[in-house]
Amino acid sequence: MLDLESGTGAMFPYFKTATEHDQSLVLHAIEPDPQMRRRAVQKVNDLALDMTIRSEGWQSLPYAHDSFDIVVASLVFCTIPDVEAALDEVTWALKPGGEFRFLEHVYADGWLAHVQDAVNLIWRLSAAGCHLNRDTAATFRNDDRFEMV
Ligand SMILES: C[S@@+](CC[C@H](N)C(=O)[O-])C[C@H]1O[C@@H](n2cnc3c(N)ncnc32)[C@H](O)[C@@H]1O
Repeated sequence: MLDLESGTGAMFPYFKTATEHDQSLVLHAIEPDPQMRRRAVQKVNDLALDMTIRSEGWQSLPYAHDSFDIVVASLVFCTIPDVEAALDEVTWALKPGGEFRFLEHVYADGWLAHVQDAVNLIWRLSAAGCHLNRDTAATFRNDDRFEMV
């Protein structure tokens, strides 16, 4: 399993639980930001996880084609600059039939979308490039390489 851009390791406690249920699970993460990666390594140690964290970004995944049964992305596609290229990398890394599991904030419907549009620039400048109004749900849903479950 690959955690794509793990940040400080917010998902790691869930991976710990997953490994307790499935001891064959092999954990990998990439995180290019050195400060976040340092905190992620600390979390791996605190949780006594057997996990490899590498410094490459999604642009150049350091893994062979068809390497993973599962790729996880949590609050990543709001920020990375090229969503299509990142999805290409996800499909490159996944084995046929593999699962892409994601947790992303998305573009709202109705009046809330207008609020997201209105504050997006200030939000983006103050939240490390995060786009509040990216229609990530539609992008994923419309990508016919994936079957949405
Ligand atoms: C909000 S953090 C999410 C981290 C983690 N997945 C979580 O759930 O807490 C966004 C992630 O996107 C990465 N990121 C931000 N801007 C990027 C960029 N321009 N290119 C590549 N990665 C970027 C950061 O390094 C970070 O890991």
